[in-house]
Amino acid sequence: MPVAAVIGAQWGDEGKGHIVDLLANQARLVIRYGGGNNAGHTVVNDRGVFKLHLTPSGIFDPNTVNIIGSGVVVDPSALIGELNELKSQGIDTSKLFVSERAHIIMPYHTLQDNLQEQARGASKIGTTGRGIGPVYADKMDRSGIRAVDLLHEEILLGRLRVVLEEKNRLLTKLYNAKPFSLHDLYMQYLDYGRQLADHITDVHPIIHRALEKDFPILLEGAQGVLLDVDYGTYPYVTSSPPGAAGACQGAGIGPTRLSSIVGVYKAYNTRVGEGPFPTELEEGPEADTLRQIGKPWAEVGTTTGRLRRVGWFDAVMARYAVELNSIDTIVITKLDVLDSLPTIKVCTRYKLHDTEIEYPPSTTTILNRVEPIYEEMPGWQTSTSHIREFYDLPEEAQEYVARICQLIGARLGIISVGPERDQVIIVNKIF
Ligand code: GDP
Ligand code: IMO
Ligand code: MG
Repeated sequence: MPVAAVIGAQWGDEGKGHIVDLLANQARLVIRYGGGNNAGHTVVNDRGVFKLHLTPSGIFDPNTVNIIGSGVVVDPSALIGELNELKSQGIDTSKLFVSERAHIIMPYHTLQDNLQEQARGASKIGTTGRGIGPVYADKMDRSGIRAVDLLHEEILLGRLRVVLEEKNRLLTKLYNAKPFSLHDLYMQYLDYGRQLADHITDVHPIIHRALEKDFPILLEGAQGVLLDVDYGTYPYVTSSPPGAAGACQGAGIGPTRLSSIVGVYKAYNTRVGEGPFPTELEEGPEADTLRQIGKPWAEVGTTTGRLRRVGWFDAVMARYAVELNSIDTIVITKLDVLDSLPTIKVCTRYKLHDTEIEYPPSTTTILNRVEPIYEEMPGWQTSTSHIREFYDLPEEAQEYVARICQLIGARLGIISVGPERDQVIIVNKIF
Protein backbone atom coordinates (compact mmCIF):
# COMPACT_ATOMS: atom_id res chain seq x y z
CA MET A 1 0.00 0.00 0.00
CA PRO A 2 2.34 2.72 -1.21
CA VAL A 3 0.87 5.98 -0.01
CA ALA A 4 3.58 8.56 0.62
CA ALA A 5 2.88 11.92 2.21
CA VAL A 6 5.38 14.59 1.20
CA ILE A 7 5.23 17.21 3.92
CA GLY A 8 7.09 20.45 4.50
CA ALA A 9 9.09 19.98 7.70
CA GLN A 10 10.12 23.60 8.37
CA TRP A 11 8.33 26.92 7.75
CA GLY A 12 7.34 26.18 4.15
CA ASP A 13 9.14 26.59 0.80
CA GLU A 14 11.32 23.55 1.43
CA GLY A 15 11.05 22.46 -2.21
CA LYS A 16 7.96 20.22 -1.96
CA GLY A 17 6.92 21.04 -5.54
CA HIS A 18 10.30 19.92 -6.88
CA ILE A 19 10.10 16.60 -5.04
CA VAL A 20 6.47 15.84 -5.94
CA ASP A 21 7.20 16.60 -9.60
CA LEU A 22 10.16 14.21 -9.42
CA LEU A 23 8.11 11.38 -7.90
CA ALA A 24 4.84 11.95 -9.79
CA ASN A 25 5.54 9.53 -12.62
CA GLN A 26 5.68 6.70 -10.07
CA ALA A 27 2.25 7.61 -8.66
CA ARG A 28 -1.27 7.06 -10.00
CA LEU A 29 -2.71 9.86 -7.91
CA VAL A 30 -1.24 13.06 -6.57
CA ILE A 31 -3.46 14.68 -3.96
CA ARG A 32 -2.87 18.21 -2.64
CA TYR A 33 -4.38 17.92 0.81
CA GLY A 34 -4.33 21.32 2.49
CA GLY A 35 -3.81 25.05 2.43
CA GLY A 36 -4.80 27.25 -0.47
CA ASN A 37 -3.13 29.70 -2.80
CA ASN A 38 -1.00 30.91 0.08
CA ALA A 39 1.25 28.11 -1.22
CA GLY A 40 3.67 28.57 -4.08
CA HIS A 41 5.32 25.43 -5.41
CA THR A 42 8.03 25.88 -8.02
CA VAL A 43 8.55 23.14 -10.54
CA VAL A 44 11.38 23.19 -13.05
CA ASN A 45 11.28 20.38 -15.61
CA ASP A 46 11.53 19.72 -19.33
CA ARG A 47 8.18 21.50 -19.87
CA GLY A 48 9.40 24.79 -18.34
CA VAL A 49 9.37 26.69 -15.06
CA PHE A 50 6.06 26.72 -13.21
CA LYS A 51 4.80 28.39 -10.04
CA LEU A 52 1.85 26.38 -8.81
CA HIS A 53 -0.42 27.68 -6.07
CA LEU A 54 -3.32 25.20 -6.10
CA THR A 55 -2.66 22.66 -8.82
CA PRO A 56 -0.82 19.56 -7.55
CA SER A 57 2.75 19.25 -8.82
CA GLY A 58 1.93 15.94 -10.50
CA ILE A 59 0.15 17.81 -13.30
CA PHE A 60 3.10 17.44 -15.69
CA ASP A 61 2.90 13.67 -15.83
CA PRO A 62 0.33 12.75 -18.50
CA ASN A 63 -0.70 9.53 -16.73
CA THR A 64 -1.18 10.86 -13.22
CA VAL A 65 -4.56 11.89 -11.89
CA ASN A 66 -4.28 15.05 -9.82
CA ILE A 67 -6.70 15.90 -7.05
CA ILE A 68 -7.30 19.03 -5.03
CA GLY A 69 -8.49 17.39 -1.83
CA SER A 70 -11.23 18.25 0.64
CA GLY A 71 -8.79 19.91 3.04
CA VAL A 72 -7.73 22.51 0.48
CA VAL A 73 -9.37 25.94 0.35
CA VAL A 74 -9.90 27.03 -3.23
CA ASP A 75 -10.03 30.51 -4.66
CA PRO A 76 -11.84 29.72 -7.92
CA SER A 77 -10.57 32.74 -9.82
CA ALA A 78 -6.98 31.83 -8.85
CA LEU A 79 -7.54 28.23 -9.90
CA ILE A 80 -9.12 29.20 -13.23
CA GLY A 81 -6.20 31.56 -13.90
CA GLU A 82 -3.68 28.87 -13.05
CA LEU A 83 -5.37 26.26 -15.24
CA ASN A 84 -5.56 28.68 -18.17
CA GLU A 85 -1.88 29.46 -17.82
CA LEU A 86 -0.98 25.77 -17.71
CA LYS A 87 -3.14 25.06 -20.76
CA SER A 88 -1.51 27.92 -22.65
CA GLN A 89 1.84 26.23 -21.97
CA GLY A 90 0.54 22.98 -23.44
CA ILE A 91 -0.07 21.17 -20.15
CA ASP A 92 -3.05 18.80 -20.09
CA THR A 93 -5.32 19.68 -17.16
CA SER A 94 -8.17 17.30 -18.01
CA LYS A 95 -7.20 14.84 -15.28
CA LEU A 96 -7.36 17.41 -12.50
CA PHE A 97 -10.23 17.01 -10.05
CA VAL A 98 -11.37 19.26 -7.24
CA SER A 99 -13.14 17.77 -4.24
CA GLU A 100 -16.76 18.83 -3.96
CA ARG A 101 -16.08 19.17 -0.25
CA ALA A 102 -13.25 21.69 -0.59
CA HIS A 103 -14.15 25.10 0.84
CA ILE A 104 -14.22 28.16 -1.38
CA ILE A 105 -12.35 31.39 -0.70
CA MET A 106 -14.75 34.26 -1.25
CA PRO A 107 -13.73 37.91 -1.81
CA TYR A 108 -14.91 38.77 1.70
CA HIS A 109 -12.33 36.31 3.07
CA THR A 110 -9.47 38.04 1.31
CA LEU A 111 -10.76 41.45 2.34
CA GLN A 112 -11.18 40.30 5.95
CA ASP A 113 -7.66 38.80 5.98
CA ASN A 114 -6.17 42.10 4.85
CA LEU A 115 -8.30 44.25 7.16
CA GLN A 116 -7.40 42.06 10.14
CA GLU A 117 -3.70 42.32 9.31
CA GLN A 118 -3.99 46.13 9.13
CA ALA A 119 -5.79 46.18 12.46
CA ARG A 120 -3.10 44.02 14.07
CA GLY A 121 -0.54 46.74 13.37
CA ALA A 122 2.86 45.87 14.84
CA SER A 123 1.65 42.42 15.88
CA LYS A 124 0.64 41.45 12.35
CA ILE A 125 1.20 37.82 11.35
CA GLY A 126 2.49 38.60 7.89
CA THR A 127 -0.13 36.47 6.13
CA THR A 128 -0.11 36.05 2.39
CA GLY A 129 -3.37 38.04 2.23
CA ARG A 130 -5.15 35.25 0.39
CA GLY A 131 -8.06 34.89 2.84
CA ILE A 132 -6.74 31.70 4.44
CA GLY A 133 -7.48 32.46 8.11
CA PRO A 134 -11.04 33.69 7.49
CA VAL A 135 -12.01 30.82 5.14
CA TYR A 136 -10.81 28.14 7.57
CA ALA A 137 -12.53 30.00 10.42
CA ASP A 138 -15.79 29.98 8.46
CA LYS A 139 -15.39 26.29 7.68
CA MET A 140 -15.09 25.49 11.39
CA ASP A 141 -17.91 27.90 12.14
CA ARG A 142 -20.02 25.98 9.61
CA SER A 143 -20.69 29.01 7.49
CA GLY A 144 -18.49 28.11 4.55
CA ILE A 145 -19.31 27.78 0.87
CA ARG A 146 -18.04 24.52 -0.65
CA ALA A 147 -17.05 23.69 -4.22
CA VAL A 148 -20.19 21.59 -4.66
CA ASP A 149 -22.36 24.63 -3.83
CA LEU A 150 -21.06 26.41 -6.95
CA LEU A 151 -22.67 23.73 -9.10
CA HIS A 152 -26.20 24.21 -7.75
CA GLU A 153 -27.94 27.55 -8.27
CA GLU A 154 -30.44 27.23 -5.45
CA ILE A 155 -28.01 25.86 -2.92
CA LEU A 156 -25.49 28.60 -3.68
CA LEU A 157 -28.08 31.33 -3.41
CA GLY A 158 -29.47 29.90 -0.17
CA ARG A 159 -26.04 29.56 1.45
CA LEU A 160 -24.84 32.96 0.29
CA ARG A 161 -28.00 34.69 1.47
CA VAL A 162 -27.46 33.47 5.04
CA VAL A 163 -23.70 33.85 5.15
CA LEU A 164 -23.39 37.21 3.42
CA GLU A 165 -25.79 38.98 5.75
CA GLU A 166 -23.53 38.26 8.71
CA LYS A 167 -20.33 38.98 6.77
CA ASN A 168 -21.61 42.30 5.54
CA ARG A 169 -22.58 43.27 9.06
CA LEU A 170 -19.04 42.47 10.23
CA LEU A 171 -17.33 44.26 7.36
CA THR A 172 -19.45 47.41 7.50
CA LYS A 173 -19.84 47.79 11.27
CA LEU A 174 -16.40 46.72 12.44
CA TYR A 175 -14.18 47.73 9.54
CA ASN A 176 -16.21 50.45 7.82
CA ALA A 177 -15.85 48.54 4.57
CA LYS A 178 -18.36 48.45 1.71
CA PRO A 179 -20.87 45.54 1.77
CA PHE A 180 -20.79 42.86 -0.94
CA SER A 181 -23.80 42.58 -3.24
CA LEU A 182 -25.58 39.25 -2.97
CA HIS A 183 -26.58 39.40 -6.62
CA ASP A 184 -23.07 40.16 -7.91
CA LEU A 185 -21.39 37.51 -5.78
CA TYR A 186 -23.99 34.93 -6.70
CA MET A 187 -23.64 35.59 -10.43
CA GLN A 188 -19.87 35.61 -10.30
CA TYR A 189 -19.50 32.40 -8.29
CA LEU A 190 -22.12 30.61 -10.33
CA ASP A 191 -20.03 31.49 -13.36
CA TYR A 192 -16.88 30.14 -11.67
CA GLY A 193 -18.84 26.96 -10.96
CA ARG A 194 -19.69 26.66 -14.65
CA GLN A 195 -16.06 27.16 -15.63
CA LEU A 196 -14.87 24.53 -13.15
CA ALA A 197 -17.77 22.09 -13.62
CA ASP A 198 -15.62 19.51 -15.42
CA HIS A 199 -13.19 19.43 -12.52
CA ILE A 200 -15.39 19.59 -9.40
CA THR A 201 -16.51 16.12 -8.41
CA ASP A 202 -16.83 13.69 -5.52
CA VAL A 203 -13.21 12.55 -5.34
CA HIS A 204 -13.85 9.93 -2.66
CA PRO A 205 -14.63 7.07 -5.09
CA ILE A 206 -11.50 7.88 -7.15
CA ILE A 207 -9.27 7.79 -4.08
CA HIS A 208 -10.98 4.77 -2.57
CA ARG A 209 -10.63 2.78 -5.80
CA ALA A 210 -6.95 3.64 -6.05
CA LEU A 211 -6.44 2.47 -2.47
CA GLU A 212 -8.32 -0.77 -3.13
CA LYS A 213 -6.11 -1.47 -6.13
CA ASP A 214 -2.97 -0.61 -4.18
CA PHE A 215 -2.01 2.09 -6.67
CA PRO A 216 0.85 4.33 -5.54
CA ILE A 217 -0.45 7.64 -4.21
CA LEU A 218 1.42 10.82 -3.35
CA LEU A 219 -0.02 13.29 -0.88
CA GLU A 220 1.38 16.74 -1.55
CA GLY A 221 1.71 19.05 1.41
CA ALA A 222 1.61 22.82 1.43
CA GLN A 223 3.21 25.12 4.01
CA GLY A 224 5.33 23.39 6.67
CA VAL A 225 4.76 21.81 10.05
CA LEU A 226 6.25 24.76 11.96
CA LEU A 227 3.30 26.75 10.56
CA ASP A 228 0.83 24.16 11.91
CA VAL A 229 -2.12 25.77 13.64
CA ASP A 230 -1.72 23.49 16.70
CA TYR A 231 2.00 22.80 16.89
CA GLY A 232 3.62 25.68 15.02
CA THR A 233 4.87 29.00 16.36
CA TYR A 234 1.36 30.18 17.25
CA PRO A 235 -0.04 32.75 16.49
CA TYR A 236 2.53 33.11 13.67
CA VAL A 237 1.13 30.13 11.82
CA THR A 238 -1.24 29.33 9.02
CA SER A 239 -4.77 28.08 9.72
CA SER A 240 -4.51 24.46 8.64
CA PRO A 241 -2.61 21.33 9.70
CA PRO A 242 0.18 20.94 7.08
CA GLY A 243 1.62 17.71 8.52
CA ALA A 244 0.90 13.99 8.35
CA ALA A 245 -2.38 14.15 10.28
CA GLY A 246 -3.55 16.93 7.97
CA ALA A 247 -2.57 14.77 4.99
CA CYS A 248 -4.92 12.02 6.13
CA GLN A 249 -7.74 14.38 7.02
CA GLY A 250 -7.38 16.57 3.94
CA ALA A 251 -7.09 13.70 1.48
CA GLY A 252 -9.67 11.46 3.18
CA ILE A 253 -7.28 8.55 3.75
CA GLY A 254 -6.90 6.78 7.12
CA PRO A 255 -3.53 6.98 8.89
CA THR A 256 -2.85 3.24 8.69
CA ARG A 257 -2.77 3.48 4.90
CA LEU A 258 0.28 5.76 4.87
CA SER A 259 3.36 3.76 3.98
CA SER A 260 5.82 6.62 4.25
CA ILE A 261 5.93 10.11 5.67
CA VAL A 262 8.54 12.11 3.84
CA GLY A 263 9.73 15.28 5.53
CA VAL A 264 11.22 17.85 3.16
CA TYR A 265 13.90 20.03 4.74
CA LYS A 266 16.07 22.72 3.25
CA ALA A 267 19.76 22.31 4.16
CA TYR A 268 19.27 25.54 6.17
CA ASN A 269 16.16 27.40 7.35
CA THR A 270 13.95 30.10 5.90
CA ARG A 271 10.75 31.79 6.90
CA VAL A 272 8.40 34.32 5.24
CA GLY A 273 6.27 36.59 7.39
CA GLU A 274 6.58 37.34 11.08
CA GLY A 275 7.28 35.06 14.03
CA PRO A 276 10.15 33.50 15.96
CA PHE A 277 13.18 32.16 14.11
CA PRO A 278 15.92 31.23 16.60
CA THR A 279 18.70 30.58 14.06
CA GLU A 280 17.98 33.64 11.90
CA LEU A 281 20.91 35.45 10.28
CA GLU A 282 19.92 39.01 9.60
CA GLU A 283 22.99 40.42 7.90
CA GLY A 284 26.44 39.50 6.71
CA PRO A 285 28.08 37.40 4.03
CA GLU A 286 26.60 34.12 5.32
CA ALA A 287 23.06 35.53 5.17
CA ASP A 288 23.80 36.82 1.66
CA THR A 289 24.94 33.37 0.57
CA LEU A 290 21.77 31.76 1.91
CA ARG A 291 19.59 34.40 0.22
CA GLN A 292 21.02 33.72 -3.26
CA ILE A 293 19.70 37.06 -4.54
CA GLY A 294 19.78 37.22 -8.32
CA LYS A 295 19.50 33.46 -8.78
CA PRO A 296 16.23 31.89 -10.01
CA TRP A 297 15.99 30.05 -6.67
CA ALA A 298 16.69 33.17 -4.55
CA GLU A 299 14.94 33.20 -1.18
CA VAL A 300 12.03 35.33 -2.35
CA GLY A 301 8.44 34.24 -1.63
CA THR A 302 6.85 32.41 -4.58
CA THR A 303 3.40 33.76 -3.76
CA THR A 304 3.97 37.27 -2.44
CA GLY A 305 7.45 38.18 -3.69
CA ARG A 306 8.55 39.04 -0.13
CA LEU A 307 12.17 38.38 0.85
CA ARG A 308 12.41 35.22 2.91
CA ARG A 309 14.26 35.41 6.21
CA VAL A 310 17.21 33.00 6.32
CA GLY A 311 19.23 31.16 8.97
CA TRP A 312 21.21 28.08 9.91
CA PHE A 313 19.69 24.60 10.04
CA ASP A 314 17.74 24.20 13.26
CA ALA A 315 17.86 20.59 14.43
CA VAL A 316 15.69 21.30 17.49
CA MET A 317 12.81 22.28 15.24
CA ALA A 318 13.68 19.55 12.73
CA ARG A 319 13.46 16.80 15.36
CA TYR A 320 10.25 18.27 16.75
CA ALA A 321 8.79 17.99 13.22
CA VAL A 322 9.77 14.29 13.07
CA GLU A 323 8.26 13.54 16.45
CA LEU A 324 4.97 15.27 15.67
CA ASN A 325 4.54 13.66 12.27
CA SER A 326 6.33 10.31 12.46
CA ILE A 327 8.51 11.37 9.54
CA ASP A 328 10.43 8.27 8.43
CA THR A 329 12.24 9.61 5.38
CA ILE A 330 14.19 12.82 4.96
CA VAL A 331 14.59 14.86 1.81
CA ILE A 332 17.26 17.55 1.99
CA THR A 333 16.96 20.26 -0.64
CA LYS A 334 19.17 23.15 -1.72
CA LEU A 335 22.40 21.57 -0.49
CA ASP A 336 24.09 23.41 -3.38
CA VAL A 337 23.23 26.75 -1.76
CA LEU A 338 25.85 25.97 0.91
CA ASP A 339 28.54 25.20 -1.68
CA SER A 340 30.60 28.36 -1.18
CA LEU A 341 30.59 28.58 2.63
CA PRO A 342 33.87 27.96 4.47
CA THR A 343 32.04 26.81 7.61
CA ILE A 344 28.45 25.86 8.29
CA LYS A 345 26.61 25.98 11.59
CA VAL A 346 23.91 23.63 12.83
CA CYS A 347 21.82 24.39 15.89
CA THR A 348 21.65 21.25 18.03
CA ARG A 349 20.00 22.61 21.19
CA TYR A 350 18.70 25.84 22.65
CA LYS A 351 19.81 27.63 25.76
CA LEU A 352 17.14 29.34 27.82
CA HIS A 353 18.59 31.38 30.71
CA ASP A 354 21.17 28.87 31.95
CA THR A 355 19.36 25.72 30.97
CA GLU A 356 19.81 23.69 27.81
CA ILE A 357 16.56 22.63 26.19
CA GLU A 358 15.84 20.17 23.41
CA TYR A 359 12.28 21.18 22.53
CA PRO A 360 10.91 24.47 21.27
CA PRO A 361 8.97 26.28 23.99
CA SER A 362 5.29 26.66 23.15
CA THR A 363 5.05 30.42 23.55
CA THR A 364 6.42 32.92 21.12
CA THR A 365 7.75 35.25 23.81
CA ILE A 366 9.89 32.49 25.30
CA LEU A 367 10.92 31.07 21.94
CA ASN A 368 12.15 34.56 21.03
CA ARG A 369 14.47 34.41 24.04
CA VAL A 370 16.21 31.10 23.36
CA GLU A 371 19.81 31.14 22.22
CA PRO A 372 20.82 28.52 19.67
CA ILE A 373 23.74 26.28 20.60
CA TYR A 374 25.71 25.66 17.43
CA GLU A 375 27.96 22.95 16.18
CA GLU A 376 30.32 24.17 13.46
CA MET A 377 31.19 22.01 10.49
CA PRO A 378 33.66 22.60 7.66
CA GLY A 379 32.21 23.59 4.30
CA TRP A 380 33.23 21.97 0.98
CA GLN A 381 33.65 25.09 -1.17
CA THR A 382 33.09 23.35 -4.45
CA SER A 383 30.04 22.94 -6.65
CA THR A 384 27.68 20.01 -5.96
CA SER A 385 24.94 20.81 -8.47
CA HIS A 386 26.16 18.26 -11.05
CA ILE A 387 26.53 15.37 -8.56
CA ARG A 388 24.08 12.46 -8.74
CA GLU A 389 25.62 9.88 -6.34
CA PHE A 390 26.02 10.30 -2.60
CA TYR A 391 29.61 9.08 -2.54
CA ASP A 392 30.57 11.56 -5.28
CA LEU A 393 29.74 14.44 -2.93
CA PRO A 394 32.73 16.11 -1.27
CA GLU A 395 33.44 14.40 2.04
CA GLU A 396 32.46 17.50 4.05
CA ALA A 397 29.08 17.57 2.30
CA GLN A 398 28.54 13.86 3.06
CA GLU A 399 29.39 14.54 6.68
CA TYR A 400 27.09 17.56 6.87
CA VAL A 401 24.16 15.59 5.45
CA ALA A 402 24.89 12.58 7.67
CA ARG A 403 25.07 14.80 10.75
CA ILE A 404 21.79 16.56 10.11
CA CYS A 405 20.06 13.23 9.40
CA GLN A 406 21.46 11.87 12.67
CA LEU A 407 20.17 14.93 14.53
CA ILE A 408 16.78 14.75 12.82
CA GLY A 409 16.46 11.05 13.51
CA ALA A 410 15.13 9.48 10.30
CA ARG A 411 16.58 7.78 7.22
CA LEU A 412 17.81 9.80 4.28
CA GLY A 413 15.75 9.48 1.09
CA ILE A 414 16.79 12.16 -1.39
CA ILE A 415 19.24 15.04 -1.55
CA SER A 416 18.53 17.80 -4.01
CA VAL A 417 21.35 19.89 -5.46
CA GLY A 418 19.49 22.15 -7.88
CA PRO A 419 15.96 23.14 -8.88
CA GLU A 420 15.70 20.94 -11.97
CA ARG A 421 13.93 17.62 -11.91
CA ASP A 422 17.07 15.54 -12.34
CA GLN A 423 19.26 17.51 -9.93
CA VAL A 424 18.81 14.92 -7.20
CA ILE A 425 20.74 12.18 -5.44
CA ILE A 426 18.47 9.25 -4.63
CA VAL A 427 19.75 7.47 -1.55
CA ASN A 428 16.64 5.48 -0.62
CA LYS A 429 13.59 5.05 -2.83
CA ILE A 430 10.30 6.56 -1.64
CA PHE A 431 8.13 4.01 -3.53
P1 GDP B 1 7.73 24.65 -1.99
O1 GDP B 1 6.74 25.68 -1.64
O2 GDP B 1 8.09 23.77 -0.83
O3 GDP B 1 7.37 23.85 -3.20
O4 GDP B 1 9.09 25.44 -2.35
P2 GDP B 1 9.20 26.78 -3.26
O5 GDP B 1 9.00 26.41 -4.66
O6 GDP B 1 8.37 27.87 -2.69
O7 GDP B 1 10.70 27.20 -2.97
C1 GDP B 1 11.78 26.38 -3.29
C2 GDP B 1 12.70 27.12 -4.27
O8 GDP B 1 13.92 26.44 -4.36
C3 GDP B 1 12.17 27.15 -5.69
O9 GDP B 1 12.67 28.31 -6.33
C4 GDP B 1 12.79 25.89 -6.33
O10 GDP B 1 12.92 25.98 -7.74
C5 GDP B 1 14.13 25.90 -5.67
N1 GDP B 1 14.75 24.60 -5.45
C6 GDP B 1 14.17 23.40 -5.10
N2 GDP B 1 15.13 22.48 -4.86
C7 GDP B 1 16.33 23.11 -5.04
C8 GDP B 1 17.69 22.70 -4.91
O11 GDP B 1 18.01 21.58 -4.54
N3 GDP B 1 18.65 23.66 -5.18
C9 GDP B 1 18.34 24.93 -5.57
N4 GDP B 1 19.31 25.78 -5.80
N5 GDP B 1 17.07 25.33 -5.70
C10 GDP B 1 16.08 24.43 -5.42
P1 IMO C 1 4.35 26.69 0.59
O1 IMO C 1 3.33 25.63 0.30
C1 IMO C 1 5.95 29.74 3.26
C2 IMO C 1 3.11 31.75 5.92
C3 IMO C 1 2.88 33.23 5.65
C4 IMO C 1 2.61 33.72 7.06
C5 IMO C 1 1.83 32.57 7.66
C6 IMO C 1 0.32 32.77 7.65
O2 IMO C 1 4.79 27.44 -0.61
O3 IMO C 1 5.46 26.14 1.40
P2 IMO C 1 -1.48 32.61 5.69
O4 IMO C 1 -1.61 33.38 4.43
O5 IMO C 1 -1.35 31.14 5.51
O6 IMO C 1 -2.56 32.96 6.69
O7 IMO C 1 -0.10 33.15 6.34
O8 IMO C 1 2.15 31.43 6.91
N1 IMO C 1 2.89 30.85 4.75
C7 IMO C 1 3.88 30.30 4.05
N2 IMO C 1 5.22 30.45 4.13
N3 IMO C 1 5.43 28.88 2.35
C8 IMO C 1 4.08 28.69 2.28
O9 IMO C 1 3.54 27.77 1.47
C9 IMO C 1 3.25 29.44 3.12
N4 IMO C 1 1.92 29.52 3.28
C10 IMO C 1 1.72 30.36 4.30
O10 IMO C 1 4.01 33.84 5.08
O11 IMO C 1 3.82 33.82 7.76
MG1 MG D 1 6.56 27.75 -1.59
